Amino acid sequence: MTQLDVDAIRADFPVLQRKVRGQALVYLDSAATSQKPIPMIERMDRIYRHEYARPEEGHSLSKEATAAFEGTRAKVATLLNAAEPREIVFCRGATEALFLVSRIVHHDGLGPGDEVIVTELEHHSNIGPWIQVCRESGATLRVVPILPSGDLDLGRLEAMLTDKVKILGVSHVSNVTGGINPVKRITEMAKAKGILVLVDGAQAVPHFKVDVRDIGCDFYAGSGHKMGGPSSVGFLYGRAELLEAMPIADSGSGMSEDMNFDEITPKPIPFKYEAGEPPFSEVEAWSAAIDYWNKVGLNRIEEYERELTEYARAKVAAIPGVRILGDPADRISVVTFTVDGQEPKKVEQALDEDGIAVRAGNLEAAPLLRALGTEKAVRASFMFYNMHGEADALAASLARIAGGVRA
Ligand SMILES: Cc1ncc(COP(=O)(O)O)c(C=O)c1O
Repeated sequence: MTQLDVDAIRADFPVLQRKVRGQALVYLDSAATSQKPIPMIERMDRIYRHEYARPEEGHSLSKEATAAFEGTRAKVATLLNAAEPREIVFCRGATEALFLVSRIVHHDGLGPGDEVIVTELEHHSNIGPWIQVCRESGATLRVVPILPSGDLDLGRLEAMLTDKVKILGVSHVSNVTGGINPVKRITEMAKAKGILVLVDGAQAVPHFKVDVRDIGCDFYAGSGHKMGGPSSVGFLYGRAELLEAMPIADSGSGMSEDMNFDEITPKPIPFKYEAGEPPFSEVEAWSAAIDYWNKVGLNRIEEYERELTEYARAKVAAIPGVRILGDPADRISVVTFTVDGQEPKKVEQALDEDGIAVRAGNLEAAPLLRALGTEKAVRASFMFYNMHGEADALAASLARIAGGVRA
């Protein structure tokens, strides 16, 4: 087992010290958004007290902000092993990044006869935008099914990769099963047919080392707020030559060199894709959280979380009346389940009474839940600041709830 000093780590996340309903908080909702380490909170505080200004090449404060903002861009590029910082576009979150790609591809000439492929295990953020642009453009949306395990049916996927397909969108890690998709292999299959590949890495980047050049994808979306950053921060990675060649998506403030009533002259990348006020304080403060994650070490985080997730999974699976959704071959950080005869929302509320924060509902992945045989479910998600004792607490509380006995 990986030795992480989890007690010391927990001391760096102040919210983990609080009580909920008189009980020690057990925070098992990091897949929605992570808790925040002190260095990030202090960085945010310092920005608002001493540094706050929009990044621009203007007065001193704005120059300082530019250095911090662009410094974070370089840091995110290094985090992902992108070739250049200008391949990173800052957004409010993965949702905005995925939506941005859909509009870029739409403006690039998506039309009738073209196909867009997503998979059955996508988060709504990687389905909704494609429904919209396919509807608007006349293109066809096709869906790669899953196997009963919750893994993707790679044989079906490969058969769907024809020359009609413009782009394939696939999540790196499912937010429901925690299944890690073989995105490098999938990208190779798609690239062999000249198809663009978009990877949704919202549930991957906080949990293990991601290397976009090794994967070989064209676009990669992620959330900073799921990796210790403030709310509303995320990014889109796009290969530089592609971003340069692709049309703009949004226009307005900050994205153009010049504008006329009949023409927009876009700025170079990445700025041509950063229309409007950027989440600059959030980006600058996220930098401190990335340092924190790096200090703990992404390889150690991965090893610890894989082990902790399997530990929790086994405990939950052993409870009579509890059914875990999916059994993917490779997985991390998420355990999703239903309890026989009990509404997921009721289970969520009952766990909350014991101070345990989980999430219930369609988990923003309604098609996947249906494919796994349910409309709604309960999700416990883990981060390296979680302890084995918290998995025990979840299992003990769940056993009482499943048995119909309140503590
Ligand atoms: C797989 C996946 N994609 C996209 C998103 C959306 O991310 P964001 O909250 O940053 O918009 C989530 C959020 O839970 C997710 O789990």
